[in-house]
Amino acid sequence: MSDLTVNKISAGLLCGGLLIMASIKTADILLPHEEIAENTYPIEVAEVAADASSASAEPVKAEPILAMLASADIAKGEKLAKKCTACHGFEEGGAAKVGPNLYNLINAPKGRDGGFAYSAALVERGGDWSYTELNGFLHKPKTWLSGTKMNFAGLKKPEDRANLIAWMRSLSANPAALPSAEAIAAEENS
Ligand code: HEC
Repeated sequence: MSDLTVNKISAGLLCGGLLIMASIKTADILLPHEEIAENTYPIEVAEVAADASSASAEPVKAEPILAMLASADIAKGEKLAKKCTACHGFEEGGAAKVGPNLYNLINAPKGRDGGFAYSAALVERGGDWSYTELNGFLHKPKTWLSGTKMNFAGLKKPEDRANLIAWMRSLSANPAALPSAEAIAAEENS
């Protein structure tokens, strides 16, 4: 191969290379890529992690409310009860609806409405509806009583539960006593 041929080939390769680089640059200018502001397929790591932990961790306990009952806002509680009245009646002697009647419920036995078919979970739990038990149930019905028929997400705010329970307490000819100082202290230490 003569020197001239080698020169020609090298020049050809060089030109070819330059041409490719130039066209890449031109394409870059003509078709500017848009800034990708957000991952196109966001990966929801946090949510997956939260789900996994809620499946294994202990259910979150309802915050204490006994100390709040004496000064609770009964009118606000009555308003909150609108979340319940699609399923529950609160009037004396009222019939069961989707759920049982709730008149005079504080300290009454669980599952006492003869006109309602309770879940096995509720019947087996037994005992009376104390303020503390109502607080736990209304906080997260399905967590507190796994297998309950009550399809309700729960009331997250302690003040809401206190106001509603205080209103429910007033629905009685003879309202249950407010919690004692000992009961309040025991709840806060539990
Ligand atoms: C979607 C319907 C629905 C809503 C809304 C609902 N509940 Fe219920 N509730 C039920 C059903 C059904 C049961 C029966 C549960 C069982 O048998 O496990 C029940 C049971 C109860 C019980 C047990 C009563 C007993 O006789 O032992 C209480 C207390 C209660 N609900 C309170 C409430 C309150 C307070 C609200 C509103 C904040 C509410 N529920 C909202 C359907 C509902």
